[in-house]
Amino acid sequence: MAGVTLKNVFKSYDGTNLVIKDVSLEIANGEFCVFVGPSGCGKSTLLRMVAGLEDISSGDLFIGDKQVNKLAPSERNVAMVFQNYALYPHMDVTENIGFGMRLAGYDKETIKSRVDRIADILQIQPLMQRKPRALSGGQRQRVAIGRALVRDPGVFLFDEPLSNLDASLRTQMRVEIAKLHRQYGKASTIYVTHDQVEAMTLADKIVLLHTGADVLRYGSVAQVGSPLELYARPRNLFVAGFIGSPKMNFIKASVLRIENDGVVVETPHKRVLKAAVSADKRLKTGDEVTLGIRSEHLELADSAKENTLPCRVQWVERLGDMTYAYLQPEQEEQVIVRLSSKSTVSIEDNVSLYIQPQECHLFDAEGMALPRLTV
Ligand SMILES: Nc1ncnc2c1ncn2[C@@H]1O[C@H](COP(=O)(O)OP(=O)(O)OP(=O)(O)O)[C@@H](O)[C@H]1O
Ligand SMILES: [Mg+2]
Repeated sequence: MAGVTLKNVFKSYDGTNLVIKDVSLEIANGEFCVFVGPSGCGKSTLLRMVAGLEDISSGDLFIGDKQVNKLAPSERNVAMVFQNYALYPHMDVTENIGFGMRLAGYDKETIKSRVDRIADILQIQPLMQRKPRALSGGQRQRVAIGRALVRDPGVFLFDEPLSNLDASLRTQMRVEIAKLHRQYGKASTIYVTHDQVEAMTLADKIVLLHTGADVLRYGSVAQVGSPLELYARPRNLFVAGFIGSPKMNFIKASVLRIENDGVVVETPHKRVLKAAVSADKRLKTGDEVTLGIRSEHLELADSAKENTLPCRVQWVERLGDMTYAYLQPEQEEQVIVRLSSKSTVSIEDNVSLYIQPQECHLFDAEGMALPRLTV
């Protein structure tokens, strides 16, 4: 039973290449925390530091209330499942799962009872006598998870454990991992992925990491919060653009005036739009801003209505349960709108796009979000 605390953690490889900058985080007992972010942002590095597979350049790492900076992986009470899990090919499933306990000197009875219990939980009893080569990808992945579970650790660490599986197996294993975490309610889990859906559905807490120059400017952590917090109240343009699929639409504009119930902006083509956000004493008339709106908050409407943009339909994707239309407004940025499956919109149509003020996000010239008035 253990939480994980990072305090001002930095990591540079070779003393120069700064990968992790100033990460402070608390992952509570029993919490499911997901590290997400673009490729190369340091997710695996951060996880490997918790596991003890990578040194921390500076800062403190606690598991429970014990500082573990200098402890070997085996002394940290953690178990890790990798993307490329390697099972021992010459051992059957029972031996693969029990191997770590055997090394640690447990007696046969204890090993058997724990391995049996894990087999029950993962529903792999019929496979116990098979060698890895006789298992499917998903079954192997389950054995790899079993190997981690059997040690009954305080902290589970997963590095993209499902990325080798096909889409339907991924969905199935995702649900299983969520269930397992509930059964093991006392253990904390840190799970690395760059799959949006995994992050949104599994996490109690998402840690979104920056990449590139943003790390040097702001530190590695872009935002920490529950999935819906990050979705509804992204702190900046990077978070807004990363969380959610399709990506949030962005429209460049400048501030026309500030009203009590929102900020009125004007596009380069003099279209006037209102966003229900507070100017927060930061904005003044003429400031450059970016208006953000998700595709599900857009509608096609009568052009006489307020808060609309004229657009031309460039592409239509009919997915069966819904339709995405790709629209070109007068300015450069393309806008994606989610429509009902019954929509009859087609390529080359001229349409009028209604933007709900209550659902708008607004970002200042630095890319920082203004407080929304409606959430
Ligand atoms: N041993 C190493 N020596 C030098 N640089 C490294 C080393 N390992 C990783 N890096 C660099 O650190 C950065 C973060 O790598 P990391 O593997 O943590 O990224 P990631 O977020 O897990 O990416 P991905 O989603 O592609 O797995 C990358 O720029 C990578 O090139
Ligand atoms: Mg990685």
